[in-house]
Amino acid sequence: MFRERRARVLEAMGEGVMILPAAEVMIRNNDVEHAYRQDSDFFYLTGFEEPESVLVLSTKHEHEAVLFVRPRNKEREIWDGPRAGVEGAVERYGVDAAYTIDELAKRLPDYLGDVDRVHVRVGRGDAFDRQLFAALDVVRRRARQGIATPTELIDPGKILHEMRLRKSEAELALMRRAANVTREAHLRAMHATAAGKHEYEVEAEIRRAFRAGGCARAAYDSIVGSGPNACILHYRANDREMGEGELLLIDAGCELEYYASDVTRTFPVSGTFSAEQRALYEVVLAAEKAGIDAARPGKTLDDIHHITSEIVARGLLEHGLLTGSFDEVMETQAFKRFFMHKTSHWLGMDVHDVGNYYLAGQPRPLEPGFVLTVEPGIYVAPDADVDPRWRGIGIRIEDDVCVRAEGAPENLTSAIPKEIADVEAACEA
Ligand code: GLY
Ligand code: MN
Ligand code: MN
Repeated sequence: MFRERRARVLEAMGEGVMILPAAEVMIRNNDVEHAYRQDSDFFYLTGFEEPESVLVLSTKHEHEAVLFVRPRNKEREIWDGPRAGVEGAVERYGVDAAYTIDELAKRLPDYLGDVDRVHVRVGRGDAFDRQLFAALDVVRRRARQGIATPTELIDPGKILHEMRLRKSEAELALMRRAANVTREAHLRAMHATAAGKHEYEVEAEIRRAFRAGGCARAAYDSIVGSGPNACILHYRANDREMGEGELLLIDAGCELEYYASDVTRTFPVSGTFSAEQRALYEVVLAAEKAGIDAARPGKTLDDIHHITSEIVARGLLEHGLLTGSFDEVMETQAFKRFFMHKTSHWLGMDVHDVGNYYLAGQPRPLEPGFVLTVEPGIYVAPDADVDPRWRGIGIRIEDDVCVRAEGAPENLTSAIPKEIADVEAACEA
């Protein structure tokens, strides 16, 4: 799979070189590192998870795919675990050649001579930039030997992110598996939630389900927001005691083999929706379903957002949270007081995945194989200027959807309960 992707990149480059560095190790505090996660682009083309590595793809060099990796080191491997080394890189990761990373400075100029276009991202890390610029300078100094210097630096995303945007069947299979683990996590959360418990106890259930399901990590920090915390869009503290009669909003998705899921469910802490909660929940649910159904070839994310916004706006008018005519509310976007974010983003190896949202300034038409979220919400701040019975209600429903060539889109996360009766039953279970 990785070899095939590299071949597609080489083909797409026509003539050129692509240089991709591994993610950097980040210090958390003193000598403790943040958990390491490989860079998505680098992993997409290598499957290689070690830091301090660089991939070079070249259409001109005798070796098309070359990995620079950490050398084997008995002493270090006792502390940090095994390294593939140069031999392992060739044998197990299928590149044409491999060298130790300390050879990069010396060898990089050889890949850059007589090549017009270099696909490389600058400005992400000083150390890598310095190596790249130094190598380019070496090539410039070879001009009198008749070796030409590259004239264009191109962001690798131009090729890679277009590829990543269109998911293959193998990628979709992974995303379905990720969806399954995320389903287990949300079911456990619904089951475990009760008044008097803390949000972090529910978060712990989610983490457990992710790890027990074989995931290295979550795709992002879980949001477990009860009562008014559901109205804080990026709530992370997860430390409040949950109260009787409140809603709990959980936005949590696992990352399985580098593929993300991203799911939000909102359910009653005590197992039954109140009349007000139910009323707004039904609005969000109707908006979400209509948004999902619209995820078809030719439609755009703006179309989907327009569809969900209209349904939310009508619901807010119907329940008296907004006043005026429907046309006015749409014209002034007054619904943004309660639904202030967009409906969708791309989903894949990154939770907010790569790929352009606009082409030539126009919203990009969806194509088969695109995966997106649909996630409308209604958030009534605790101090909102509305009838007090609505205050502090925050609801979002989010699913992961794949655009299909024909017919209805595939909702990858449809097995996670969201109909009111199903949610209440899952809370009881
Ligand atoms: N969990 C991040 C998002 O929904 O976009
Ligand atoms: Mn989410
Ligand atoms: Mn999302």
